[in-house]
Amino acid sequence: MMGARVDCLRLGLFLIVVTVCWSDVVYSYSRPPARKTIFVPHSSDADSDTTPQQVHISQVGQDKMRISWITDSSSTPATVKYGTSSGSYGFSATGTTSSYRYLLYKSGEIHDVVIGPLNPNTLYYYLLGDSPQEYNFKTPPSRLPIKFAVSGDLGQTDWTKSTLQHIGQSNYDMLLLPGDLSYADTVQSSWDSFGRLVEPLASQRPWMVTQGNHEVEKIPLFHRTPFTAYNARWRMPFEDSRSDSNLYYSFDVAAVHVIMLGSYTDFDSDSAQYKWLQSDLSKVDKGKTPWIVVLIHAPWYNSNTAHQGEVESYEMKAAMEDLLYRARVDLVFAGHVHAYERFTQVYKDKADNCGPVHITIGDGGNREGLATKYEDPKPEISIFREASFGHGILDVVNETHALWTWHRNDDNEPIASDSVWLTSLSSIPACKL
Ligand SMILES: [Fe+2]
Repeated sequence: MMGARVDCLRLGLFLIVVTVCWSDVVYSYSRPPARKTIFVPHSSDADSDTTPQQVHISQVGQDKMRISWITDSSSTPATVKYGTSSGSYGFSATGTTSSYRYLLYKSGEIHDVVIGPLNPNTLYYYLLGDSPQEYNFKTPPSRLPIKFAVSGDLGQTDWTKSTLQHIGQSNYDMLLLPGDLSYADTVQSSWDSFGRLVEPLASQRPWMVTQGNHEVEKIPLFHRTPFTAYNARWRMPFEDSRSDSNLYYSFDVAAVHVIMLGSYTDFDSDSAQYKWLQSDLSKVDKGKTPWIVVLIHAPWYNSNTAHQGEVESYEMKAAMEDLLYRARVDLVFAGHVHAYERFTQVYKDKADNCGPVHITIGDGGNREGLATKYEDPKPEISIFREASFGHGILDVVNETHALWTWHRNDDNEPIASDSVWLTSLSSIPACKL
């Protein structure tokens, strides 16, 4: 059914929150109420303005890790001390400190330090700045198997807490997030709350993210630069894949080449992102990385009535689907639609044994609730679809096989509700390039 979609931005100005709305004509849908939004304040033991908070880590290159954290004060060094035994820190690295302004908000001091080389599949203990608080993380394995947790459109509600709890129990190696993190929507203190909410997980395993529409935070006349908070707070290793932008990048982990694309930056064939993707895919060595996984935000395949007809979906698909198909990409994860849907292997809207499996997993738990209405009849290429919150686990077992499982947040338990064995396209003779 066609209708007017109303998009709104909450603008934080002094103590006043102003809501600005505009409308587009799109397909309409209704969502059930979400669970309540939560705000995570400074912890009670944050007795010093140099106490680290919002700690998260991300992989850099093959054997390094970026440690990111925020302090209220700059009177603490951007230094990480680390080692493989608790209480013993034989290594040290120093990085950079930055901050940003958004309307009247000034961020805390954002510290980024790259440490390494590190051993694979190893537990490291670390200290931040001059704080005595010890953290730890485990590096991903350098060889298969590897286990990814996948969750999009997280937000910060009681559903998000449930999703994070389930992911935390999964013994995952790395989290992949296809956009829409905090749902701060210009209220910058919500970015701080989100950082504190995810810290228990994100400080222990690398969180590799790309951005969604909720990261844009551009306000006509008032704040013209997009992605200010996202780029400052969630710096990803784009330089390592010769990308010129934090909005798209790639990396190798174990035997998987992961590509993060930006749905809300230019993607046409003249764009820097397109040229970068073309170059990046041409360099993939399937001997080293037999699996290729791509993350976007707005899904290219979607039979939910939510978010139909958006340019970030159909124009990006029209521009880039050929590139992914010709490179034999195995999997494309998307978010944006707050539900779960798995398609068969597809190319140009038809089942194709050499095309990627497309999966929408925008059901992390955000405050906007679920997208419950689906097109009827179900397209043949859509295999499984359900509007429930949850998360996915991609267990890449070896060069040829991976197990994908979607876990629904049912009665607060992670119920495995959709599961499929995938075969890498690099191992299928008919799909050989
Ligand atoms: Fe979105």
